[in-house]
Amino acid sequence: MINLGILISARGSNMDSILAAIKAGRIPRAKPQIVISNNADAEGLKVASEKYGVSTKVILSEGLKRQDYDKKMIAALEEADVKPDNGLVCLAGFMRIISPEFVRHFKMKILNIHPALLPSFPGLHAQKQAIDYGVKVSGCTVHFVDDGVDSGPIILQRTVPVVEGDSEETLAARILEQEHQAYPEAVKLFTEGRLKVEGRIAHQL
Ligand code: GRF
Repeated sequence: MINLGILISARGSNMDSILAAIKAGRIPRAKPQIVISNNADAEGLKVASEKYGVSTKVILSEGLKRQDYDKKMIAALEEADVKPDNGLVCLAGFMRIISPEFVRHFKMKILNIHPALLPSFPGLHAQKQAIDYGVKVSGCTVHFVDDGVDSGPIILQRTVPVVEGDSEETLAARILEQEHQAYPEAVKLFTEGRLKVEGRIAHQL
């Protein structure tokens, strides 16, 4: 079994899609252990505990340096038995950049989802970036996390059309539907040992 720690900052709909897939028996090798948020008001915290009975923890960042914050996160994850040798950390709308120390600790055991087809439009407001650039296709990317911003090996991508008259909101909603399919699928691949990373390529076995 792979023990999952999920990090969120707000709505947590991607977390919900992962936990729903696990509950439905679609990711049999994943065991959700903890959901951590940097925001005490994150709606996803209630969803995790009330809908799925998963433990939650809030770690506030005020007054902490990035490295010290991340040390607290590592401690909370390890306390919940999410460790580099048995675990997977899923960033699901976690609105903080994580430190190189955290990335190194959980080397190639951290996944993220991004609402664009990387390497296009990394960073914030990816959907708006796509609209403003005028691309006709966008989508989402699930990738391993490395030291850069949205730059690690790509596990899978799903596309959606960008249509005339799209706003940031309408495009985000269309992409989100695909995110909710893609993230659980990537977690399943990881937990089944079907991903092998060589350099920047994540091969599917
Ligand atoms: C998603 O669009 C995700 O791609 C991005 O942040 C958003 C989080 O949404 N990283 P939610 O909290 O999972 O609903």
